[in-house]
Amino acid sequence: RPGKPLVIAIDGPSGSGKSSVSKEVARRLKLAYLDTGAMYRALTWYCLNNGIDLTDGAAVEQASKTMPLEISTSTGTEYVAVNGTDITEEIRDPRISSSVSAVATTLGARTELIRRQRRLIEQHHHRMVVEGRDITTVVAPGAEVRMLLTASEEARLRRRGIQLGGTQSKAQLAAQVIQRDAKDSTVVNFTQAADGVVTLDSSDLDFEETVDIALNIVGKVIYGD
Ligand code: DC
Repeated sequence: RPGKPLVIAIDGPSGSGKSSVSKEVARRLKLAYLDTGAMYRALTWYCLNNGIDLTDGAAVEQASKTMPLEISTSTGTEYVAVNGTDITEEIRDPRISSSVSAVATTLGARTELIRRQRRLIEQHHHRMVVEGRDITTVVAPGAEVRMLLTASEEARLRRRGIQLGGTQSKAQLAAQVIQRDAKDSTVVNFTQAADGVVTLDSSDLDFEETVDIALNIVGKVIYGD
């Protein structure tokens, strides 16, 4: 028997710790979890794999509709597949990261992915942690809990550096992250919290502290102070 609706919408830029924090919040609350960024990445993979020109908006939109996407919504297993091909790891490659903005700025494709995201939320009886860039504002503005997870540019770059294993020079990393966020923010504003969205700045917090505060925000919103 499904419980009361509890959609926790978490937006933020790359390197804010959004994914790891969202996943942990879902795990602790025994909720399903959806990484919407992985859907944009999967669509990018699908387009590149099918020779679709990413600047051809109509073709990218069409691809978003036909893509046979499978995405795990459990916190225990990260799994993304298109047409049965496991692309969980591959969608994190620089080849995808450097092209994903072109897909994410195609409005027709966004409409389709948003529709799929809403359907997944429904299928989970509105009990889910959903993370991305436009969840608090577009995908689920009626979510029970809406959070914007931010971090200073310095903190975000530091975390990126750690994530990528320090193989690239710091300057290159900085340029990449800043460029991608700039491109992404042309279609969705994820740098400022919309009305009713709680901002959580993780710049000076470690992972556990950030999770604790996020869980506190959830508690406050659900049960009041
Ligand atoms: O969070 P991420 O780096 O995996 O996101 C991948 C890309 O998708 C990034 O360019 C931002 C975009 N994105 C988006 O536009 N809207 C979302 N809800 C999630 C991600």
